[in-house]
Amino acid sequence: MNKPVFHNKKILVTAGPTREPIDPVRYISNHSSGKMGYAITAELLEQGAEVILVSGPVAVTLQHPKLKMIQVTTASEMYLACCRFFEIADVAIFTAAVADYRPDKIAVQKIKKSDSCFTITMTKNIDIASEFGKIKRRNQVSVGFALETNDEQVHAIEKLNKKNFDMVVLNSMNDANATFGFDTNKISIIKDDYSCTVYPLKSKKEVAADIVHEAGVLMTIKELHEIEEMTRDYESMYQ
Ligand code: CTP
Repeated sequence: MNKPVFHNKKILVTAGPTREPIDPVRYISNHSSGKMGYAITAELLEQGAEVILVSGPVAVTLQHPKLKMIQVTTASEMYLACCRFFEIADVAIFTAAVADYRPDKIAVQKIKKSDSCFTITMTKNIDIASEFGKIKRRNQVSVGFALETNDEQVHAIEKLNKKNFDMVVLNSMNDANATFGFDTNKISIIKDDYSCTVYPLKSKKEVAADIVHEAGVLMTIKELHEIEEMTRDYESMYQ
């Protein structure tokens, strides 16, 4: 029997939201449940992969002998954890809803209510997927997500190019029963040749299987290219 495509492949997955503290009791975050990232991780594990899951705070859990779980809170922590493992990853899948900004200063004490309005100055967080897009090797696959409310495909293609993704999974906030908190999802997959496949509404488990399948196809194509290149180099050395 053939080995599964992901047998002993190392996959880095980011999942969940990040939380950016304001003071010891408050933070800025988003509605990400982490369910999609965890479903993708479970699918990869089923297919024989070794997964490093860098996760923000979520209610879901997962245990598996081939799973290395790293729990983080902020975007900076998520970035530093990814830095340790990106080098060894065959595929990186960025499902996390990373907070784009963090409060400039974290108050040491709980901020007391005083004035009628309150302003927080924010600093841009590092873009984890973009940073890895800059250093990605030709044999590494990177998969991004785009959650959009309007001009969905245009924005998804912008992200594909800007972050050097091989494939973007597009979610539209306009689709019923998809996105945050639901157990179902509706996606389109846009690849770096700009081909776009639109999928029907499915369970997050089925959607995860579709995403993992397409990432596996891209990984296999890159492996074949690498073998072709090595064969060409070898032949030119001995000509
Ligand atoms: N991403 C990331 N680090 C960030 C922001 C986003 O790794 N600081 C990743 C997400 O995990 C996702 C992709 O980049 O795979 C797109 O995320 P999204 O929040 O939609 O994109 P942004 O670049 O933040 O664009 P915007 O919020 O302006 O739509």
